[in-house]
Amino acid sequence: MTDRYDPLDAKILRDPYPVLDELRQSKPVFWHEGMGSWALTRYRDCVRVLRDHATFARDPQRTGGTVAEPSLSVQTLDPPQQGHIRSLFMTALRAQDLTSIEARAHCLVRGRLDALAGAGAFDVVSEIAVPLSVAVVADLLGVEPPPYAEFAAISDAIMRSMDGGLDPSLVEPGRIARQQLSDLVDSWFAASARPGLLARVRAAEPGADALVRLYVKNTARVMFQGGYSTMAAAVGNAVHTLLTHPEALHRMRDRVLLGTGVDELVRFDGPVQGTTRVAVRACRIGAVDIRPGQKVVPLFAAANRDPAAFPGADRLVLDRTPNRHLGYGWGPHSCIGTTVAQVGLHALVAALNGSLARLVAAGEGVRRRTATMRAFDTLPVVLRP
Ligand code: HEM
Repeated sequence: MTDRYDPLDAKILRDPYPVLDELRQSKPVFWHEGMGSWALTRYRDCVRVLRDHATFARDPQRTGGTVAEPSLSVQTLDPPQQGHIRSLFMTALRAQDLTSIEARAHCLVRGRLDALAGAGAFDVVSEIAVPLSVAVVADLLGVEPPPYAEFAAISDAIMRSMDGGLDPSLVEPGRIARQQLSDLVDSWFAASARPGLLARVRAAEPGADALVRLYVKNTARVMFQGGYSTMAAAVGNAVHTLLTHPEALHRMRDRVLLGTGVDELVRFDGPVQGTTRVAVRACRIGAVDIRPGQKVVPLFAAANRDPAAFPGADRLVLDRTPNRHLGYGWGPHSCIGTTVAQVGLHALVAALNGSLARLVAAGEGVRRRTATMRAFDTLPVVLRP
C-alpha cells in the first residue's frame, strides 16, 4: 500500500493527486514505512489532529524527546507554553503596514517583468519567486534583504534537510546552512533596529530571560527562512497553475476574484505537503488504533483535494467560498504569515495582469526532489507581446 506513495518518485513529484485520491478512497489512514508514520488523507482526520493538540503533540519534549537549542521556536512548543511567543509575533505582524509591503512587492515584480519582456526565456523561480519572497519577508521584518541567490542556496539546503528521515545525507548540509542563517539573524539582532516586525518583537525583550530571548531569535529565523521558502515555492506553484489555466489569470483582474483566487491557488497546488505530530496517548483515527509515541502525518495535499470538504476538489474554482483549506495549516501551529503570503501572491498576480506581455510556458518545469515541500527547481517561461 505505502509503496504507492513515494513522495520522491518522479511521477508523484509531477502530480501527487491521483495517488493521494486513490489512497483516500481505499485506505484513508495508512502506515508509511519510509516516514515511520501514520499518514492521513481525509480532510476531517487532518483537521482533528491539527486541532487536538492535547492528544497530538508538536513539541517533542511532550513525548520524551529533546530539542536542540537552535531549534527551540514557536514551532517546537505547544499550548499553553507556546502562547506567549506566538502572540508576540502575531501582534507584531498585525502592527505592520501590509498595504505598503504589497505595493512595494508589486513594484518589484512589475520592474522585473518589464526588464524580462523581450529578453527570451527565463526561469520564474530565480527571476521572480526568489526575489519577490526574499524582498517581502525582509520588508516585513525590517532588515536589509540578503543577496538573493546566496540566500536561496542556504534556504534550499535547509528545506532539503527536512527530508533527512528519507535521505540522511541531507542532514549535514542542512546543519551547516542553519548555522549560516543563524549568523545572519544574529547580525540583525546585533544591529540597531529598523522599523518592522523585528523591532517590535525586540522591544518586548528587555526584562525577558535568556530562554525567552532564544525563542524570540529562533522564531525570527523561522519567520524569515520558513516564510521565504514556502512563499517562493507557492509563487512557483501558482505561476504553474496559472500557465495551465490561462483564463484564471485574466479572471483575477477582478479584485474579488483576486482575493479568493490566491487562496484557491494555495489549496489547489500548495507548497506544504504535510506536517508531523506525535500521539501522546492511545487513540483511534478512522479504523486505525494509534499507540502513544507513534507519529501521525496529516497530508495537506490530500486533505485539500478531499471531495467531502471541497466540491469539485480537482477543479480550480477561483470564487470558492468557504475555502477552509489546510495550505496554511490549522489550529495552534497554523501559519503566522498567512496575510503576508496573501499580500505577496496578490502582488504577483496583479503585476502579471498589469504587464502588457503575456506569460507563456517555455518548456517543462523541473520539480524539486523534496517530499515536505512541493516546489519547482526551475520553471521556464517567456513573455510574449
Ligand atoms: C504561501 C506561503 C506560505 C504557506 C503555504 C505557508 C504554510 C504554512 C503551514 C502549512 C504551516 C503549519 C505547519 C504545521 O502545522 O506544522 C506554517 C507555519 C508557519 N508559517 Fe507559514 N506559510 C507561508 C508563508 C509564510 C510567511 C510569509 C511567513 C512569515 C513571514 C510564515 C511564517 C510561519 C510560521 C512562523 C509558522 C509556524 C507557526 C507555529 O508553529 O506556531 N509563513 N506555514
